Amino acid sequence: MSYYPSEVIDDIRSGNDIVDVIGEYVTLKRSGSSYVGLCPFHNEKTPSFHVNREGQFYHCFGCGAGGNVIGFIMEHENLSFGDAIKYLADRINYTLPEVAFTKDARQKRELKQKLYDIHKIAARFYYDCLMSDEGKNAVEYLDKREVSIGIRRKFGLGYAPISRGALYSKLKEAGFDDDSIVKSGLAYKRDANTFYDKFFNRLMFPIIDVYGNIIGFGGRILGDGQPKYLNSPETDIFNKSKNLYNLNLAKQAHKRELILVEGYMDAIAIYQAGFKNVVASLGTAFNENHSKVMKAYADSVILLFDSDEAGVKAVMRAIPVLKAAGLKIKVLQVTNAKDPDEFIKKFGAAAFGELLNSAKSHILFRAEQLQKQYNLDNLEEKIEFSKDIAKLMSEVDSSIEVDAYLREVSRLTQIDISAIRSEINKLSNGVQDIKAVASRRNTNKKGIDGAREDIINIVMANRRYYDIISRYLLPEELLDPFYIKILKIIYKLYEADKTVNTQSVLDCIETPEEQSKFTAIFVKRIKFNENEIIKAINDIVRSIKNAYYDKIISDNYTNPNISQLIESKRKANNLYISLSDG
Ligand code: GTP
Ligand code: MN
Repeated sequence: MSYYPSEVIDDIRSGNDIVDVIGEYVTLKRSGSSYVGLCPFHNEKTPSFHVNREGQFYHCFGCGAGGNVIGFIMEHENLSFGDAIKYLADRINYTLPEVAFTKDARQKRELKQKLYDIHKIAARFYYDCLMSDEGKNAVEYLDKREVSIGIRRKFGLGYAPISRGALYSKLKEAGFDDDSIVKSGLAYKRDANTFYDKFFNRLMFPIIDVYGNIIGFGGRILGDGQPKYLNSPETDIFNKSKNLYNLNLAKQAHKRELILVEGYMDAIAIYQAGFKNVVASLGTAFNENHSKVMKAYADSVILLFDSDEAGVKAVMRAIPVLKAAGLKIKVLQVTNAKDPDEFIKKFGAAAFGELLNSAKSHILFRAEQLQKQYNLDNLEEKIEFSKDIAKLMSEVDSSIEVDAYLREVSRLTQIDISAIRSEINKLSNGVQDIKAVASRRNTNKKGIDGAREDIINIVMANRRYYDIISRYLLPEELLDPFYIKILKIIYKLYEADKTVNTQSVLDCIETPEEQSKFTAIFVKRIKFNENEIIKAINDIVRSIKNAYYDKIISDNYTNPNISQLIESKRKANNLYISLSDG
């Protein structure tokens, strides 16, 4: 992940005590084994931000942020890993070694750096043009669309002038070679001697990645005309399916909820109205990379789309993608205006806030869409509709929720709830057993995650426990990819005879999201005494294996070898681990 040898990273980390570093940003008070203060990542009045000196990690109970000292600096100063290392090295006057690259890696890195620089200069150039005489039509356009001066600056809006080679000349003047300029996508070669700018006479929206680098532009025509928007092509630094417009600012809202809209102008209008946690997809279809990126910053998403049919289609396409990433989804369609931007212009920020609050579960939204496909005055269609609703309800885990949805559907459609219920029963007869297992699993989820966390705690506490547990428990049996990954890391460290502590495990986890999930395990560290521990290990391993076999059995329900699985589960239940095994 980094270009520095691990000894250097170790030096940097051990030289920068986490309590000292964070103490420079947050007033910390000692409380038991940790230090406590107000979380710098979200707004709070009572302190829930803990810093642990012994483990050299931080964790916030309020917003879930957490990690080691490097992660803290990355998050707080909005820096890449490499830059956070530089920052912390500076802090302790540590001279970093020259980084050794392979030739390819160095060239690639140099090109990327050049492209970032080109984009920075381009953004500055477009901004200056907006401020100059040339930009007065664009300014007029922004005035008309009520984009405030502050927001223009915050979003770095600019204007690409009419002349077709203005940016190209500017970049040449700054010393860039033709090859790099073409690779930036901002200009292209027209003939032997002429280069043309990609954008001219357009309002320019810089597209910025989560680290604050400008990676591309969207350009809007002033007024009517085609194409309305022109976007940068994909380049070595611009990947449309991984970046979202305004995520760099939205993440600073630390809300764990994102509003997803279609248009640049919608995102800007919503931000200006005070709802900063808004992002827009970049004119490409919303895909699984987008939803993974969103999952790093949010637990739930409000899909807010235009009031036309294309908007509905976009919502219906986005739902399964977001669902697959494990995000909670609410849906909202703009009413009485064509898009969120127009809504805010017409009705104001307060009304928009109310609109947001009225977002409903994607299940109800889909029920409404189904309803539109049927004529409910016709008995046969009514039955078909009930069947579709029954199918939809099979996606809902909790029976309380199903009840609530059915009441709502019946209110909207005047269909008797019992009619839909009987469809649900018909549907579920065949799969009842599997569902029973699945729902048992769901209700136990908290307990099972607790067991997974406990086992990680115990394995890390002592090599002896590792020796025993690793003989009985495979990482895969934890089922959840996150816990599997953590247990694998721990096993590997032990196998390699490395130190095993929160530190060394954190070093093997790349994403801040997973780092904080990991540190969350240790803030409520349990202490077992020797007499209790063996009973605890037995209980925990058994419940983990039980959950594992339940899942495998329900996934292989129709497999002829199911009886073997059931037998394995029985064995696991009779397993007894004793301390002398090790
Ligand atoms: P305004 O019309 O200025 O309010 O723009 P908008 O941001 O509301 O855009 P709209 O809802 O029309 O479109 C949504 C998004 O789709 C835009 O922000 C662009 O990213 C993209 N888009 C729209 N029109 C075009 C186009 O002509 N070409 C390309 N490549 N993308 C477009
Ligand atoms: Mn619009």
